[in-house]
Amino acid sequence: MSTYLVTGGAGFIGSHLCDALLARGDRVICIDNFNDFYDPARKRRNIAAAMASPNFELIAGDIRDDQQLDEVVATYRPDKIAHIAAMASVSYSVHYPKVYADVNVRGTLNVLDAARKNSCKGVVIASTSSIYGRTEKIPFVETDPTDLPLAPYPASKKAAEVLAAAYFNSYGLASTCVRFFNVYGPRGRPDMTPYMFTDAISNGRPITLYDGGQPRRDWTYVADIVAGLVAALETDLGYEILNLGRGQPVLMRDFVTIIEELVDREAQIVHAPLPVSEPTVTYADITKARDLLRYNPQVSVDEGLANLWSWYKEEMRS
Ligand SMILES: NC(=O)c1ccc[n+]([C@@H]2O[C@H](COP(=O)([O-])OP(=O)(O)OC[C@H]3O[C@@H](n4cnc5c(N)ncnc54)[C@H](O)[C@@H]3O)[C@@H](O)[C@H]2O)c1
Repeated sequence: MSTYLVTGGAGFIGSHLCDALLARGDRVICIDNFNDFYDPARKRRNIAAAMASPNFELIAGDIRDDQQLDEVVATYRPDKIAHIAAMASVSYSVHYPKVYADVNVRGTLNVLDAARKNSCKGVVIASTSSIYGRTEKIPFVETDPTDLPLAPYPASKKAAEVLAAAYFNSYGLASTCVRFFNVYGPRGRPDMTPYMFTDAISNGRPITLYDGGQPRRDWTYVADIVAGLVAALETDLGYEILNLGRGQPVLMRDFVTIIEELVDREAQIVHAPLPVSEPTVTYADITKARDLLRYNPQVSVDEGLANLWSWYKEEMRS
């Protein structure tokens, strides 16, 4: 039995990670500030099952509070930290850049420093495919350039990866930065396309489709991401950056068709040009994660969207 601190453990991906660790018999300390980027009641629902476990501890706290974070790590002495908390959303970051520096950069620094001071064995850090920016070179490999981000959000994640490298070089603190590609599934964030399109199409509201549905996204089901996260927590690698995607990008128009078939309703499409903050394609080369973590994504987009639709219907009933 290991003890893990999961920052952002009440969010979409973090709550699935908490559930997976608890199911293995691990002890989980979750810290989350339940911010109102989207309805905090949803985050409470995300962790409802975890709360029933004697191995789960919830701390309502903020990673920007370094004193509190140090105390939490010193008290519970986690073997490793899964640092999932962040301000997500590329588009929101364009309007509110400073909070991204505050939470994603300073907050990450606080997590790394608390880990270092308390001799934690390592940190796994949630990073993003948007770090690759707009590039014609596909698939995206971890060694590709990432120094021209399209928005403050990927810039803040780049800073987090670089800080983790500095903590490895200066103090020997191990960390694995995992770049997630377009994660979706039950509990999905309401500001993300899979939830927004499912919600809008099933309720007869219009959706905005960029560039005639030509952009492609490497949709990755949340259970596959969580399997990658668990493997990253279990594997000591020093300092590494790994893509966690599916490696099979899907045209946005085809993505919409799958949702239309599931909800049995035709989408009302409003066409718009691709915003400058959005890449034309995301496409993960997952060779490195396959080699180092035995990462092997299982869930097709058809299956994953069907699961999202089932969960969505349940949510609407509650
Ligand atoms: N969902 C995706 O497709 C995707 C893709 C790439 C990277 N990521 C990264 O994965 C991680 C999780 O994303 P998500 O989609 O689950 O988002 P989410 O917003 O559902 O989860 C983030 C959680 O962190 C918490 N949080 C935010 N600021 C905090 C702070 N200052 N202190 C404590 N807790 C705080 C939030 O309350 C929330 O519960 C993030 O780091 C995000 O950048 C997500």
